[in-house]
Amino acid sequence: MRIDILTIFPEMLEAPLNHSIIKRAQEKGIVELHYHNIRDYSKNKHKKVDDYAYSLGAGMVMTIQPIADLIEKLKSERSYDAIIFTTPDGIPYKQADANRFSSFENIMILCGHYKGIDQRIRDHYITHEISIGDYVLTGGELAAAVISDSIIRLIPGAMSDETSALSDSFQDQLLSPPVYTRPAEYNGWKVPEILLSGNEKKIDEWKMEQALEKTKRIRPDLLED
Ligand code: ADE
Repeated sequence: MRIDILTIFPEMLEAPLNHSIIKRAQEKGIVELHYHNIRDYSKNKHKKVDDYAYSLGAGMVMTIQPIADLIEKLKSERSYDAIIFTTPDGIPYKQADANRFSSFENIMILCGHYKGIDQRIRDHYITHEISIGDYVLTGGELAAAVISDSIIRLIPGAMSDETSALSDSFQDQLLSPPVYTRPAEYNGWKVPEILLSGNEKKIDEWKMEQALEKTKRIRPDLLED
């Protein structure tokens, strides 16, 4: 897989996507990440990438030219399965989206900034407008890092134990049950007896009960879908 990220702050992405499983996936050649600075494509003599909105008080808006030129250049080099735009007014991002994107070959992610980008970029190039939650970040870079991380860890070979992705929270619309490790007792705090029993069937039933109870309590909306 190849992910191209279009941003005015490439450094904001390099650090979060250069650790742990995501770093190893790149070293193993499972994924290639390419960062493109939109400013490098500006034809403005001051390398400007934004301008005033055509409505009073709407703030600054990212201009078409540098973004369009960069997207056109990348599209002329390969075809893209998705051109994602990160924005708080997008569709809420879900694990099911990460699952689907993880089978794609080439993905482009455009990070929004300021008050937004010229709508014509969205109309003519973007295939998926995505929000990572109902709050506003200073820019789309952290959202692009979140989306990339959630996709890359699912690509076959990225995780040493692939079955562990199947037991993630949300994969079956349930939150994960609690987990414990040694010691069996710490400060009088005990690991639930059932987990020490060695009875795999009973343990699985307990895990399912716990997952259901937790989901009902914290995220009842997941059970309604
Ligand atoms: N840019 C700013 N806030 C965002 C959010 N919540 N999701 C995606 N991109 C954003």
